Amino acid sequence: MTDKIRLRLDRALTRLGYGTRKEVRALIKSRRVTVDDEIVIDHGFIISDPEHTRIEIDGARIALRQHTHLMLNKPAGYLTAHKDSRYPVVFDLIPEELRTLQFTSAGRLDRDATGLILLTTDGELAHRLMSPKYRISKTYHVVFHGKPITSADESKFNSGLVLEDKTVCLPAKIEILSDQEILLTITEGKYHQVKRMMQAVGREVISLHRLSIGELRLDPDLEESEFRLLNRDELISLYEEVNLQINMDYL
Ligand code: URA
Repeated sequence: MTDKIRLRLDRALTRLGYGTRKEVRALIKSRRVTVDDEIVIDHGFIISDPEHTRIEIDGARIALRQHTHLMLNKPAGYLTAHKDSRYPVVFDLIPEELRTLQFTSAGRLDRDATGLILLTTDGELAHRLMSPKYRISKTYHVVFHGKPITSADESKFNSGLVLEDKTVCLPAKIEILSDQEILLTITEGKYHQVKRMMQAVGREVISLHRLSIGELRLDPDLEESEFRLLNRDELISLYEEVNLQINMDYL
């Protein structure tokens, strides 16, 4: 980093997921936070040089980050949008303090779909994860109505399925789990892609759950509607997958 970023202590800790602004202020007031080995009780303390500042909570060093990245286990019924007048949106599921950050969703899920949503303040990361150029795989657990998937169907998926409107899809992979259930891995994100692919082979999607985006797997410990920050290893592999430099000083 060449430009110096100035950060307020309470804002930095909130962004990192240490609680709401109120909780973080109480934490600071309780003398558990040190900045360069000095106890700081002023929640508005400005970290003027985050790259070279050592922050500890209860004696354990915490890592400041330039960007914030969250994984969310989206429940059905929510739109992947910032706001909507009719339906709840995924941003309703994160605390207000985090909502004020400029998050982009790396790919959407339909309102009735569930599973992994990645929200990031790094627009370039989101863009690359969604761009067909990078061929980032997304795996979905699909439950469908109709006949079990045959090997003829599977080869259509593998060689590039043609949708009803003649759109040609990139090759996709299938793993058959049962007569009505598959794992489907695609490397692009066309509108309603999975539903349209299944429709093209005469099946109807009953439920759709995203399990992964590239190397990033939905944490099985996240209940529906819960979110958590990405950890260091997850970030390193995501940035690596899209050939993007990551500022290791912030990890
Ligand atoms: N494909 C779909 O049809 N819907 C989604 O939400 C994601 C992929």
